[in-house]
Amino acid sequence: MNTHTQSGTIPGLTALLVALPLVAYLCLVRHLRFRRTQAIHRQYAPKLHEQKSALTVNDAYDITMSLATLEFPTTFTAGVRIGMFKSYAIPTISNLLMRTSHFNNLETTSRRAANTGALLTEIFFHPPGSTRGINATARTNFLHSGYKKNGHITNDDMLYTLALSIVEPIRLINRYEWRSLSPLEVNALGTYWKSLGETLDISYLDLPSTTWHDGQEWLQELDEWAQAYEKRNMQWSQANFTVAHHAAGTLSALQRHTVNNLLEEERRQAIGFAPPPLTYRMSLGPVLAARRFCVRHLCLPRRRPVEMTGMPSNEPGHYWARNWYSRPWYTKATKWARYGPSAWWRRWLNEPCPGDDGYQPEGYDPEQIGPVALRGKGHEFVEQEKARLSELSGSRCPFTGQSGSKCPHLG
Ligand code: HEM
Repeated sequence: MNTHTQSGTIPGLTALLVALPLVAYLCLVRHLRFRRTQAIHRQYAPKLHEQKSALTVNDAYDITMSLATLEFPTTFTAGVRIGMFKSYAIPTISNLLMRTSHFNNLETTSRRAANTGALLTEIFFHPPGSTRGINATARTNFLHSGYKKNGHITNDDMLYTLALSIVEPIRLINRYEWRSLSPLEVNALGTYWKSLGETLDISYLDLPSTTWHDGQEWLQELDEWAQAYEKRNMQWSQANFTVAHHAAGTLSALQRHTVNNLLEEERRQAIGFAPPPLTYRMSLGPVLAARRFCVRHLCLPRRRPVEMTGMPSNEPGHYWARNWYSRPWYTKATKWARYGPSAWWRRWLNEPCPGDDGYQPEGYDPEQIGPVALRGKGHEFVEQEKARLSELSGSRCPFTGQSGSKCPHLG
């Protein structure tokens, strides 16, 4: 009898010893996972509701960075890239891109992807008004300027591409991430992207309203406008397929199928892609649901932000890219990257490695980056743009233009 009681106690005790730390760990994950967003709400919600003021561009930048580098870095970046990819279903956009000859083969397309990635991370991940952000924005505006002047890049196409780059990360986060975005976070994203669009000289005059209360209201209108725009303009064209086909060629097979799977049926038809394999279509949802469960309940939150922008290289004024797509443009030629196992594998496949001739291992210069034909050009334009952009202070309210605490338009 005595023995029986003891043997019943020991498994019970063992189970308790295993269960207690497990439950403690799950509670810790739950507590820490939501701590960052709670802190953001504590900081900004009173400002919006009690003081009846709005987010400044700097506030919106801080919240956006928390989302893009700490809370959902993978989905956020993928969302922006997929958003840009989706714009290839509009013939006016893809026709022009095809004419630039940057979507001819893997070399040109990967270079174009590297340039866009470098400039966009410089613009997006540096604080409003910072020198690096301003320089990259001025350069991008120069690269667009000739096409805008001759009417080949229209404001509508710019606005539509901007809308996709904002709406797509929000859509993917709300659908597949470990939590949805709160109204305050959507407000911040709208506020930051609106100001970013202004620096890219995108006009919002085509939207039904001319003033908005906050980023969320602006975004809602932009999304509705973009949906109407694609109803009118999205249709099949050979250029759509050519550009999308080459752009997808810079991705791995897994990434390609994922992007294809995330396209709406009408967009897939406009691009001319076949649906992804059935096994893939069936498994993506469950895989992402499993990821969502694990991240939400089992993983501690990220402690340090993911570094997105280029690292200063040993060539003055140049930066090494942190990521590359299919070809190692602007990548640091470390010993590991050149002689490590993945380098041997790449060489066996006859693929280039970081540091190989032609891929600019010294990094990119944000003031020179772009198509070869435009290297060393645009100095005057860029300097004028820098002056214009420096006047757009980050402490302004993007909905009234008033600065700092004087942003009381909600009252
Ligand atoms: C929010 C919208 C947009 C952003 C943020 C953006 C960003 C960029 C960036 C970073 C580059 C430099 C990449 C490189 O040098 O290869 C670039 C180049 C270019 N973009 Fe855009 N873009 C936008 C919309 C558009 C649209 C709608 C079009 C076309 C209809 C377009 C056409 C071009 C062209 C043609 C170039 C290359 C310039 C050249 O080859 O001379 N962009 N864009």
